[in-house]
Formats: sequence, structure tokens, C-alpha cells
Amino acid sequence: MKVLVIGSGGRCHAIVETLSKSPQVDKIFCAPGNAGIAALAECVAIKETAVESLLDFAKSNNIELTVVGPEVALEAGVVDLFKANGLRIFGPTKSAARIETSKQFAKDLMKKHDVPTAAYATFEDFDAALAYVKAGSLPTVLKYDGLAAGKGVVIAETLEQAEEALRDMLLDSKFGKGKVVIEEYLEGPEFSLLCFVNGHNVYPMPVSQDHKRAYDGDKGPNTGGMGAYTALPFITDEDLEYAMSNIMRRTASAMVEEGCPFCGVLYGGLMKTKNGIKVIEFNARFGDPETEVVLPRMTSDICQVFCNVADGKSPTITWDDQATLGIVLASKGYPGSYEKGYVIEGVENVDGSVYHMGTALKDGKYVTSGGRVMIVVCKAPTLREAQQKAAAEVAKIKCDNLFHRNDIGDKAFKF
Ligand code: AMP
Ligand code: GLY
Repeated sequence: MKVLVIGSGGRCHAIVETLSKSPQVDKIFCAPGNAGIAALAECVAIKETAVESLLDFAKSNNIELTVVGPEVALEAGVVDLFKANGLRIFGPTKSAARIETSKQFAKDLMKKHDVPTAAYATFEDFDAALAYVKAGSLPTVLKYDGLAAGKGVVIAETLEQAEEALRDMLLDSKFGKGKVVIEEYLEGPEFSLLCFVNGHNVYPMPVSQDHKRAYDGDKGPNTGGMGAYTALPFITDEDLEYAMSNIMRRTASAMVEEGCPFCGVLYGGLMKTKNGIKVIEFNARFGDPETEVVLPRMTSDICQVFCNVADGKSPTITWDDQATLGIVLASKGYPGSYEKGYVIEGVENVDGSVYHMGTALKDGKYVTSGGRVMIVVCKAPTLREAQQKAAAEVAKIKCDNLFHRNDIGDKAFKF
């Protein structure tokens, strides 16, 4: 079978690697891919959002399965277009992807269908929003309604911070259109529950935990994710069962009822609060860097899983019982501005998986070409061992302009 994967980051590298192990897969194309992915797939220079070009490519190359990585491709309607042309594609339609692309859609759906989440109100008017914040308690959470590449959420500790964020989101139209969801601030450990979903059917992957802040101790600005691990000791079987029945399955069924059944990966960004597990956000795709620690544990054929889920059949999905932990190497300065083009050495010495997030090839060597550059993932029988192994392996990568966190996984032992 010929398969096309849309995307370019570490998530896509992990998807491509897992697909490359499938006995059914003859050839993988990746659009646009990256320097690391190029070792496993033929990279084609088509942008994730160039949906017509992607369709032409899939048709002329007899692609039998297309897998969508990033949300921008979903929002650009790639799934709708492929389906309208009778092509098999793994991912939600634009309408179903609203669970990620519109905070208001997601919150209204959860409220209507009794899915536990933070209390909220939606505003378009600056004065009304400010009055609501003033009447409530601090900290408060302000979420821009629309895709904002992880930068649309502000946790305001003071009234001044809240006012500035509301100004950005509603008056200065810094992000595009002005609408904001104001949410109750919740506390507790966060975790990600990714599930394969088709209509009412929901199949969980191992739970994982991202580390969104740039520096050790969860300090510094929010990023796309600086590391992740699986085998979370603080999530019990009861927690998982609760999250599956009250959150993931309920939401999948709600989407069917609302006339936009979900097909693809539904990502629950969840928090274990004192009052139970609640939804922080939903995403309509694989998480990054969660995918890089989750997929290495899959022991079944992912190509078959994608095809079965896309075709509405029930898949066989199995996982090993190991722990995985991944540490992201990012360019100094990220998530702010950073320089590119630094040579990276030692990748071949790593005993583990190295997924490329933002690299390029120059004169036969890997060089940095993005904010997040690579993730080193190790697997072991226990989380402690995986953590120690990842720390030792990440040290083998030499580059003058990279940094990484030294505390990925520490939170697991604190709850
Ligand atoms: P989101 O983009 O919705 O995932 O938000 C980004 C991050 O902001 C989350 O990973 C949380 O750490 C934090 N956050 C979002 N909503 C809340 C909330 N209601 N209470 C506390 N923290 C939140
Ligand atoms: N790891 C967060 C995300 O994929 O959105």
C-alpha cells in the first residue's frame, strides 16, 4: 500500500516510523516532511494547507491511505476534499475539527452534553468581558476563540494582566477575529488521553503527560511542548475508566448527535482536580510531543488501525507495558526568536529514537531549522529507568545552539 502523511514535525516523524513497520506499507510519502523523515519516506514539497495540490498528488500516485498530522490541514478542509473525491483519509472533517479550532464550540458542546470542564463565559465585547473578570476571582483563564498556535491562552494572575490580554484578543485583533472564552482556573496534574475515534467508537492510547513551559520547574513561557512521558503513576485504572466514559465516549457520542461525527484522533487535554477529572481542551489530532512517546509502545499494525478506523471497522490495537520518556532539544531563544543553521552531531550514537522536529540537511549534516529541533525518546520497564536513559542519551547530541529541560518526568513522582 502507498501511504501519504501530511505534516513535518516530530509527530509526523513518529507516525511515519510506526507506519514503516507495517507489513502492508510499501511506500510512504510525507508532505512536506523534514530531514529526519526523509530517511524513511519520500518527502514531497507540498505545504500542509495546499489541499488541492495534496489531492492531486494522492490521486496521481494511487495513495490508498492519507494520514493528517497538523490541525492547520484539518482547518483547511483537507479531509472534506479527499472524502468528496472518494479517497481514504484518516482525520476529522472541518466541521468535526471545530472541537479544537473553536474554543466556544468545544465549551458549548461539553456544557450541553454534561462533559466535566471548567465553568466559562464567552465574550465579544471588551467592556463586558472586563466587567466579568472584575466580578470573578483571580487567577482567571482567557482563551482566544480560534487557532493561535498555542499562544491563545493567558492565565492572568492580576487584573492588569487580564485587561492587557483582553485588549490583545478583542480590541487590537492581534490574532484575527475577536472572541474570547473566560474560564474558571483549575488546579491539578494535567495529562493527555489520545483516542482513536470513529463515531461512537473510542479506542484509547496509553496516557501521557506533556511539559509545556520552556524551563525546568515549569518556569518560563509556554511552548509547543518540551518533553513527555507515558506510564503516569498518578492516573489509576478508575481514573482512566472515568475519563473514558464521562469524557471521551460521551464527547464522541455528542459529536454524532450534533451531526458532526468525529473520525480520527481525539485528544483530551485533561486535569485531575480535587473535584474529579475535567477537560482543559480538546484537540482534533495526535499531540506533539505526546505522539513521540505513545506510538513507540504500539505493538499492532498502525496501518491497519488507520484503515479500520477510517472505514468504520473495529481495529485491533495493542500496546506494550513499558514506560517511555522523551526530551525535546530546542534552539536557544525558543519560543522567542532564535537562530538557525547550527550543525548537530552525535544523532547516530543515540540508543533510542530520535524524531526530528525542525532540522535540515546541509552538506550532508543535520542543521537546526526550527524552534523545537529534535526529541530523544527512550523506553524502559519503569519510568525512572526511562528517565535516566533519556537523560544519558540526550547528552550524546552535540550542538552549540540547543537547550533542553532536565526535569522531564519529575512531576510523575510528586502527586
Ligand atoms: P490550552 O491551550 O487550552 O491547552 O491551554 C494551555 C495551558 O493553559 C494548559 O495546558 C493548562 O496548563 C493551562 N490552562 C488552560 N485552561 C486552564 C484552566 N481552566 N485552569 C488552569 N489552567 C488552564
Ligand atoms: N502537546 C500539546 C499539543 O499537541 O497540542
